[in-house]
Amino acid sequence: MESKKVCVPLLSREQIAAAVGRLAAELNRDYRRKHPLVIGILKGCYVFMADLTRQLEMPVEIDFARLSSYGPGTETSGKVRLISSPRIDIRGRDVIVLEDIIDTGLTVKCFLKYLQRRQPASVKVCALADKPARRRVAVNIDYLGFIVPDRFLVGYGLDCDEKYRNLPDICALEDSV
Ligand code: IMP
Ligand code: MG
Repeated sequence: MESKKVCVPLLSREQIAAAVGRLAAELNRDYRRKHPLVIGILKGCYVFMADLTRQLEMPVEIDFARLSSYGPGTETSGKVRLISSPRIDIRGRDVIVLEDIIDTGLTVKCFLKYLQRRQPASVKVCALADKPARRRVAVNIDYLGFIVPDRFLVGYGLDCDEKYRNLPDICALEDSV
């Protein structure tokens, strides 16, 4: 029988807002005279992307990619597929990849490989959360909100089987005892 899950608060909406504000300030400083192309990895990035990009002060263009590694549940399948690619031409652009959380690193690594083949001027990775305990491939994260513990997180765009994305805070999903 499937055990009942409970949401244990980990990062409050105030803590998240402060981190997003800090990341926006860093990007505003580093891209001040540029015109970056921000590519969000769906679906988990959608809340983070909306909050972050509205604080960017330079002209930006927005696009999305969709990759999938997860089967149902909380374990990655280990195989990453590009389900939907960005529509805007990447060649010669300063690309900022937005990711909700970097776990094994397989998703970002696969997407960076896809981008590099298309000759961007530069590519940086901006992630809201990093879960280094589960890393399987090395990934350089240029802009990071939080280092998080090895727990399965939901809320603020993060899901478990497509649920909980709409929670305003980030919580750990735990088995209830
Ligand atoms: P990776 O390929 O293992 O680095 O996983 C990246 C993707 O897995 C993220 O974009 C998330 O969608 C998902 N993911 C990883 N950890 C979590 C988590 O704790 N909660 C919800 N989704 C997660
Ligand atoms: Mg997910």
